[in-house]
Amino acid sequence: MSKKITWGVLSTANIAVKKVIPAMQLGTYSEIKAIASRNLENAIEIAKDLNIGTAYGSYDELLNDPTIEAVYIPLPNHLHVEWILKALKAGKHVLCEKPIGLNAKQAKQLLEQTQQYPKLKVMEGFMYRFHPRWNVVKEHIKKGTIGDLKNIHSTFTYYNVDPTNIRNKPEVGGGSLLDVGCYCVSLSRFLFEEEPIKVLANINYDPVLKTDYLVSAILQFPKGTATFTCSTQLLKREYAEIIGTEGAIEIPHSFIPSKDDESKIVIANTSEHKEIVFKKCNQYTLQGDAFSLAILNNTEVPTSLQDALDNMIVIDQLFKSGKEQKWIEINH
Ligand SMILES: NC(=O)c1ccc[n+]([C@@H]2O[C@H](COP(=O)([O-])OP(=O)(O)OC[C@H]3O[C@@H](n4cnc5c(N)ncnc54)[C@H](OP(=O)(O)O)[C@@H]3O)[C@@H](O)[C@H]2O)c1
Repeated sequence: MSKKITWGVLSTANIAVKKVIPAMQLGTYSEIKAIASRNLENAIEIAKDLNIGTAYGSYDELLNDPTIEAVYIPLPNHLHVEWILKALKAGKHVLCEKPIGLNAKQAKQLLEQTQQYPKLKVMEGFMYRFHPRWNVVKEHIKKGTIGDLKNIHSTFTYYNVDPTNIRNKPEVGGGSLLDVGCYCVSLSRFLFEEEPIKVLANINYDPVLKTDYLVSAILQFPKGTATFTCSTQLLKREYAEIIGTEGAIEIPHSFIPSKDDESKIVIANTSEHKEIVFKKCNQYTLQGDAFSLAILNNTEVPTSLQDALDNMIVIDQLFKSGKEQKWIEINH
């Protein structure tokens, strides 16, 4: 049997319990050994349900467990950087949920502080990148199937007005741009393989919740534009389309394809219209294993902290644009 990295999970977050832990338990290189909650009874209950060996009643206790090599952090956004740093100090590698923090200032401080821990890996959990579809999309862009890539349009929306949900609380980093708009920004940068030079955003704030509940934006890249809409108060939708001078690629369920079904992309240009079907796969399993393998082989993690910082820089400027109602230049 291959060596597995031993993981601990900080909190009984919904995403951890429903998706990421069960997915990582299917991994070849990852073993979930412990879970911590602010409430010990919750931790014990979830540990029992998910067959996890150890339950802790505080995150610090888990960080003090010498048998844990890596931690997964699915805390509310305002706690990401704080707990990444605590985990590094305790000698753990860290996979942290997106977005890496609340803003570029936090991300930059994190990047600087990680220099003290050259042997430890840290990665932001943009799990969508681990679905094999994107390699194929990138290959087609590179070989010119759609001519020159000029526009990436993406949408990520859902409806949730529960005031107790972290997404609807500005003080913990709620709002649509940090929750789902961050994927649209990330995808645009990932596919253009460069940074935007200026951005424009129109941001609607909920008068009661005070969160940005509907955002539409334009990102001007050197090679073309990206446009997106994200929302916490629209019908659930998520897709992307990339358009070039001679063709286009549609990517339905671009960020969260079903783990139980095949997924597809549709390529159309002047000479062909075809679907490429991908067998079912769980991108959270692939993400966990990619991170564990980077630890086992002591290689770079697939998504760097510089990438996380660059994403936050764009998000900051989108907020600024929304506030000032004008284009904002980005100087990287
Ligand atoms: N990659 C993805 O597909 C994906 C999907 C959804 C969410 N996310 C990200 O995952 C993170 C968690 O999202 P979620 O929806 O799973 O959140 P959630 O269910 O609200 O869980 C957050 C957990 O954090 C702990 N916590 C500690 N301090 C807290 C505080 N002040 N307020 C609320 N909770 C606190 C709680 O666990 P204990 O009580 O057990 O300590 C809570 O269960 C976010 O960063 C989000 O952006 C990623």
